[in-house]
Amino acid sequence: MGFGLTNIKIIIAEDYDQMSAKAAHIMADEISLRPDGVFGFATGGTPVGMYKELIRMRQAGEVSFAKVTAFNLDEYYPIEKANDQSYDYFMKDNLFNHVDIDHSRLNIPNGECSDPVAECISYEAKIAAAGGIDLQLIGIGLNGHIGFNEPADHFTNATNHIELTESTIRANRRFFVHEKDVPRHALTMGIRTIMSAQKILLIANGEKKSGILEQVLFGDITPKVPASVLQLHHNVTIVIDKPAGAKIAARI
Ligand code: GLP
Repeated sequence: MGFGLTNIKIIIAEDYDQMSAKAAHIMADEISLRPDGVFGFATGGTPVGMYKELIRMRQAGEVSFAKVTAFNLDEYYPIEKANDQSYDYFMKDNLFNHVDIDHSRLNIPNGECSDPVAECISYEAKIAAAGGIDLQLIGIGLNGHIGFNEPADHFTNATNHIELTESTIRANRRFFVHEKDVPRHALTMGIRTIMSAQKILLIANGEKKSGILEQVLFGDITPKVPASVLQLHHNVTIVIDKPAGAKIAARI
């Protein structure tokens, strides 16, 4: 069993929209506290609503990204930035092109690089040079992966080049026209990189995430469920909707 939840704050919102708004406000508050802070962003279906709310808040003058430095969790490999399934494209399309962020301070692992190992080393060095991440947003995969750190025998360390599991490739299949186009590798911050963030904000919605959230929060801390390592982080906030919280609501 995990050793309790005193380091993890859990907010169960009514629905997806409320989850998105709550998470957006948590990030915006952090940006107000640290306008020149280092913020970690995530992709996937889950943060789309949160990013819409951040764009709305920017347009209303409630938040400014002008001095923010951004690091994304991960990227497929290999993939062209112009591919509408690349995480580079996703982030610009869903957030960065619609807020006042300085594009020279955007960092996403480069899926076009020729040497993925060198790219990972350089990405990790850039995070260190920026002083580390103040707040890292993460989603969660159905198998408990965070970023693209898949279930394994060991927790990963720094940013690394990984092979995706069949279950993740299947989950990503819906985004690509042809099966052969679904990437089988990725570049991802490692578990140590994520765990080094000062604060972590995890968002999840839908009944399909309820089982894995129960394992993450109340199961063993194991690299077979990569997100279970969050039990060891000192400052995690989890914002989920009611269906995602179905299995944990009675235990918190
Ligand atoms: C991908 C991303 C993860 C994300 C996960 C969940 O695997 N690499 O960072 O958390 O998808 O995606 P969704 O939010 O669509 O459930």
